[in-house]
Amino acid sequence: MKKIQISPSILAADFSQLGIEIKRLEKAGADMIHVDVMDGHFVPNLTIGPPVIKTLRNYTKLPFDVHLMIKPVHKYIKDYAEAGADIITIHPEATEDLKNSIKHIQELGKKVGISLNPETKTDVIKEFLNQIDLVLIMSVHPGFGGQKFIPEVVNKIKELKNIQSKENLRFDIEVDGGIDFNNSKLVINAGANILVSGTTIFKNNNGDIKKNIETLKLI
Ligand code: DX5
Ligand code: ZN
Repeated sequence: MKKIQISPSILAADFSQLGIEIKRLEKAGADMIHVDVMDGHFVPNLTIGPPVIKTLRNYTKLPFDVHLMIKPVHKYIKDYAEAGADIITIHPEATEDLKNSIKHIQELGKKVGISLNPETKTDVIKEFLNQIDLVLIMSVHPGFGGQKFIPEVVNKIKELKNIQSKENLRFDIEVDGGIDFNNSKLVINAGANILVSGTTIFKNNNGDIKKNIETLKLI
């Protein structure tokens, strides 16, 4: 079994001091930093882009797990690679040619993630599973932090885990949205090995992010 990793989403951090928040996450035991990029078009919310990510790069050596919720995504991929992303995750609905976008991310020397919305079936990415590094399973509709976990996605995690084991593939299974101390066990047992969390990490236990990261890893 792969080691469980936590990727805190800075969407729930104090945006007036993101650099300091990232340092705090590193000290608290985060394995990577989840950066939610939203364009107010693919999703109904707007966050940050390459210039901000570039300035944040100076605050930590942890991998930047960049989740692009922007459409069209292809022409912007290079900007995020240059800004310091380590993993670049895109949604199939946001590109005209998924195969080509995957290749583009690889040629930039970055890890490739593909994200599945709650209603998107695994069929869309089956042919790419032997080439990509990560599948990001959305357990809420993308756009906002603090939403309620959609339990139906647990079956999708199991389905992917089965394919991964059967075909001996190496991709990570990451889950994003509404993760808390109860459903964390559920998704880990279903096969997820990376958990994204914003609200639970920053707001639970009076913002004790170290304790919250540790608790999310416990099965
Ligand atoms: C939703 C984002 C998530 C979100 C997670 O569109 O992709 O990463 O910030 O936040 P919580 O843990 O609050 O659901
Ligand atoms: Zn995300």
